[in-house]
Amino acid sequence: MRLVFLGAPGVGKGTQADKAATQFSICKISTGDLLRGAVRTKTPLGLEAKGHMDRGGLVPDSVVIGLVREKLADASSASGFILDGFPRTVPQAEALANVLRERGEHLDHVISFEVPRGEIVKRLSGRRSCPKCQATYHVDLAPSKMGNVCERCGEALTQRSDDQREAIETRLRVYEEQTAPLISFYEQQRLLSRLNGAETVDAVYQNLVRILTTR
Ligand code: AP5
Repeated sequence: MRLVFLGAPGVGKGTQADKAATQFSICKISTGDLLRGAVRTKTPLGLEAKGHMDRGGLVPDSVVIGLVREKLADASSASGFILDGFPRTVPQAEALANVLRERGEHLDHVISFEVPRGEIVKRLSGRRSCPKCQATYHVDLAPSKMGNVCERCGEALTQRSDDQREAIETRLRVYEEQTAPLISFYEQQRLLSRLNGAETVDAVYQNLVRILTTR
């Protein structure tokens, strides 16, 4: 199964991608996680990406396309993948189509997660993440059972630098301007399914599985 999870920041793409990757034994490729990893280890790519990410802007297409191309060439992607947060611009979507064409593959589904803006802001401002294993929590909506420590690996949880009010506003604007046009891009290709992401994590997941297994 080859999937794209599309949606504004905070709609729950990462949360749902973790669950689906486990159930369907496919690999999750999150460009956000890859970029944050590069920032943490201070690679040249990470140093270039950091400023864009902290401000809530997009990292240049050429950088992100190169990262994804590399990941898709990895053996772990051979049995399928979920692209979480990629593509985010029309040039990225066109580059993805080219890579898949070269490999004789195609996307099976593009899921557009939809959540009202007020709920998104609430989710992002309360999010806590594990810098080691990337698990995600929320101080009120999905707290770690171990307080401010990751349930999976015991690392102290942190708040992402782009989950501050000003960066959240920028990310939402950038989504509307640069990423939302992908909804009609994929609708025209009859690949798009819209999913209400405002329900509980389990309810959203049930509806997601229904889409993935019935279309
Ligand atoms: P990225 O990490 O991809 O961030 P994002 O798209 O802004 O998405 P988020 O991770 O914020 O949200 P999500 O939808 O995954 O929600 P989550 O499951 O965590 O990108 C970060 C930055 O990297 C970008 O701004 C950009 O600079 C750069 N970048 C990345 N990809 C790029 C690309 N392709 N091109 C250029 N630049 C790129 O959930 C959020 C919170 O809500 C959590 O606390 C969670 O516990 C909670 N929650 C989830 N679901 C529910 C639910 N159903 N009910 C209640 N709470 C819920």
